[in-house]
Amino acid sequence: MGPDALTLTRTFHFSAGHRLVSPAVSEEENRTLYGPCFRPHGHNYLLEVTVGGQPDPHTGMAADLNALESAVRRAVLDLVDHRNLDADVPALTGIITTGENLAQAFWGMLSQALPAGVLRRVAVVETANNTFEYCGERSDGDAE
Ligand code: NI
Repeated sequence: MGPDALTLTRTFHFSAGHRLVSPAVSEEENRTLYGPCFRPHGHNYLLEVTVGGQPDPHTGMAADLNALESAVRRAVLDLVDHRNLDADVPALTGIITTGENLAQAFWGMLSQALPAGVLRRVAVVETANNTFEYCGERSDGDAE
C-alpha cells in the first residue's frame, strides 16, 4: 500500500474577518477586482485537515485524533479564530487573505505542527460555494 492509501479528514471551524486588497493596484482597481470582498466582512470558515497513515494494529486507528485536534488548534485555530486575518495574525502578514492563500499558509503552519509527512490536504471552505484546497508541492514520484 502506498502512503496515500488511507486518509482521515477532520473538519474544524473558525470565524474571522478580512478584506481583499492588493497593494499592487489602486483603490479603484481593487474595488473593481474584488467587488464586495474589498469591504471589511467576515466568514464562518471550515478548515478540513486530511492526514494519511496506516491503521495501528492494536487500535485500528490511523491517526491520534486527540493529537490532531490539539495540533490544529494550537497551530491555526487559536491564532485565527475571532481575529482580523489582515491585522492580527503574524503568520499571515503580507499576504492577500484569499482562500487560495489561506489554504497554502495553513498548510505551512500545520506541516510544522504535525509529524513529518502525515499532512495530505488542507481545505478552506470560505462559503457554501467556494472551497480552496492545497495538497503541498507536487512531486513527480520518480523525478526526485
Ligand atoms: Ni471574504
